[in-house]
Amino acid sequence: MTADDRTEMMSIPFDVPTSARAYGWMLGGKDNYAVDRDFLLRTLPDFPECVDIARQNREFLYRAVRHLSRAGIRQFIDMGCGLPTDDNVHQVARRFAPDARVVYVDIDPIVLAHGRALLADDATTTVINGDMRDQDAIVGHPDVRRLIDFDEPVAILFLSVVHHLTDADDPRRVLRTIIDRAAPGSYLGLSQVVADDPERGAAMSAHISGGGVPWQTRTPAEVDTLLEGLAPVEPGLVNLVDWRPDADQPPLAPVHDDLAPYLGATEQSKGIYEYGGLLRKA
Ligand SMILES: C[S@@+](CC[C@H](N)C(=O)[O-])C[C@H]1O[C@@H](n2cnc3c(N)ncnc32)[C@H](O)[C@@H]1O
Repeated sequence: MTADDRTEMMSIPFDVPTSARAYGWMLGGKDNYAVDRDFLLRTLPDFPECVDIARQNREFLYRAVRHLSRAGIRQFIDMGCGLPTDDNVHQVARRFAPDARVVYVDIDPIVLAHGRALLADDATTTVINGDMRDQDAIVGHPDVRRLIDFDEPVAILFLSVVHHLTDADDPRRVLRTIIDRAAPGSYLGLSQVVADDPERGAAMSAHISGGGVPWQTRTPAEVDTLLEGLAPVEPGLVNLVDWRPDADQPPLAPVHDDLAPYLGATEQSKGIYEYGGLLRKA
């Protein structure tokens, strides 16, 4: 571990939950702390859909990256990539396109620490610490410039991260800044938690932001307005369970016993779900 790694590890917050760790727990991961687990266990009685939503999003990631690789995409930027788990973007992409290059970006220093360990011997995939609200800094980062050629089509993934951008962050500007730099034929992948009922969405935003994780649940129509001018890939922006479902895709790791009672909650209540899809730049 270098001196820089030690400094980054010291900046890992242990007194507030983080999205990367709480989400990782719902995917079956072990890199989380009591503060993350307690926060989720306080959230689930009111919003039991969260476990299904996290897992449905991760299953969508596999299908989206497979689709992009088969469509000829060879370079990916994964914004807010989260902690490494099974079937990370570079592993899925390389199954279908062995020459794929991937840059992972995350604001959470624990992601950088774990990502570096995973990618130590990988010359064509890297992870950087970055804030997706500052797309100029990400595009100008030396590792992005080394691995990504913006004159060639690139897939820019914002999967299960747009709810971490509040309207004050101007998410439309965040998305536009990078897609405007990308070559024609590039793709934007996007998903975020939505609520059909704005009041329930506002209650969810208040609960999660109040716990220390920046958050804004939107309605599907609000998400659509962030993306004007890009052409959705069939079937468009939808509940992710309806985006090219594939019963034969690789399964996720089993969920922890404490979370198992919440599996299937989205079948009871259909009002909160993860919404998104792929869009292509003409
Ligand atoms: C719910 S996880 C999604 C992980 C992954 N994209 C996926 O779909 O499986 C959200 C991730 O976004 C990261 N994140 C939140 N705000 C961010 C920001 N402003 N810039 C970069 N990453 C951010 C969190 O640290 C976390 O790892």
